[in-house]
Amino acid sequence: MGRKPIIVGNWKMELSHKAAREIAHAVKTLLHNIHVAADVVICPSFPSLGVVQEELQRSENLFVGAQNIHHEEKGAWTGEVSVVQIHSVATWCIVGHSEVRSVTHESETLVVKKVGLLLKHGIKPIICIGETQEEKHDDLTIKKVTGQMDVILQGIERTSLPHLVIAYEPIWAIGSGVLPDPDTVCETILLIRKLVAERHGQDSADRLRIIYGGSVTKDNVGRYVGGPCADGVLLGGASLHPREFVDIVSIVQENVR
Ligand code: PGA
Repeated sequence: MGRKPIIVGNWKMELSHKAAREIAHAVKTLLHNIHVAADVVICPSFPSLGVVQEELQRSENLFVGAQNIHHEEKGAWTGEVSVVQIHSVATWCIVGHSEVRSVTHESETLVVKKVGLLLKHGIKPIICIGETQEEKHDDLTIKKVTGQMDVILQGIERTSLPHLVIAYEPIWAIGSGVLPDPDTVCETILLIRKLVAERHGQDSADRLRIIYGGSVTKDNVGRYVGGPCADGVLLGGASLHPREFVDIVSIVQENVR
């Protein structure tokens, strides 16, 4: 069955407020020139969510996402941001990104708690999973991904699956320029879909969007998307360049049908 492609740009902590507005504007303008048949999500830092949302409003298929939320809705958590504080500006939110996990050491259970909060507030989660360099070296990719999916699937209702995305990101591929073998990525994505089918049925598994992330550029994206492989990509560096971002959108939607 057809799954709508999705391209997510994670701007991390790379841009000033002004640059965030300018790049959002440039992406929107460039996307006007192509027929967009995908969901395109831009995830700026918290302070720029509002201006980017203002810039993107009334653009069909173009959405704002946050990069993380705290696992509680409210409370004495200095420096943290709650789902309640982003829900008027964000349609999507990344959770479990390895750069967050490496600082907070959050468990899978906590990631699932965040997913529950997001769904409760009508925000669509993009859940990042994937193995470290050491785990890959020790041949533990399947074990790691299976373990992560087990916890996620235990904590999520079948009816929520169409509202979320799983992003498979080998942690060692993020920001490194080191690319995984496309066949191995496809096999891992098939494994994730199989695990979903075992728990929630083939129909639900067939509807779930699973994307790839890690050093994606316009030159390599075609190797990872389409067919039984990824339904889209999670971009870091490449999403900071409007022309490249939009070229990637074109390539992904051409491959994922
Ligand atoms: P990258 O980042 O594309 O710069 O490797 C990907 C990510 O952090 O999700």
